[in-house]
Amino acid sequence: MSTQPFKNVCLLPQTNQLTGLYTIIRDKNTTRPDFIFYADRIIRLLVEEGLDHLPVVKKTVATHTGENYEGVGFQGNVCGVSIVRAGESMEQGLRDCCRSVRIGKILIQRDEETAMPKLFYEKLPEDIADRYVFLLDPMLATGGSAIMATDVLIKRGVKPERIFFLNLICCEEGIQNYHKAFPEVNIVTGCIDKGLNEQKYLVPGLGDFGDRYYCI
Ligand code: URA
Repeated sequence: MSTQPFKNVCLLPQTNQLTGLYTIIRDKNTTRPDFIFYADRIIRLLVEEGLDHLPVVKKTVATHTGENYEGVGFQGNVCGVSIVRAGESMEQGLRDCCRSVRIGKILIQRDEETAMPKLFYEKLPEDIADRYVFLLDPMLATGGSAIMATDVLIKRGVKPERIFFLNLICCEEGIQNYHKAFPEVNIVTGCIDKGLNEQKYLVPGLGDFGDRYYCI
């Protein structure tokens, strides 16, 4: 059972397994191969949870015993949109669950002159307006990049309630900022941290996710 600490926020069940995975990826002494392996396990859980919120239709199949099984069939097309660079780390987890899924990309970076997030690049599936969209970014801190990325999706015709923003760690401030802009978008997260430090990093957090996954 997943819990809903805030409206339209789905927090993964806080099991010992999940806490163990977070303990590994938060540890500053964890090596990059281990960080990747255990972060990938959490990403897989987030994707599975997100998929569980998509619509299904009743479907009956005949089994090898001659009996029927009254099940469900998946309905509705999904695509992913990753916020480059850290969000790209979540693409494989989505691919592992959704065969040949389409994945778009959005690049947002800090404008050095204004210190505000700036949209540099977007490449999205043509038919994105007809899809459920898994927005991928591992850390929801202030929400600035995610708000800008979501704005791009809405302008392309995606319905807010069809967007699922998947992240590994968030905080209340980020959730509030994001939901102030887009209250109907669903946030799927694995952990709600206590807040942000002066550098706007999540605390206790894990540092820079992109650096830990790709560089250090
Ligand atoms: N991005 C990160 O990689 N880490 C944070 O703590 C916040 C944003």
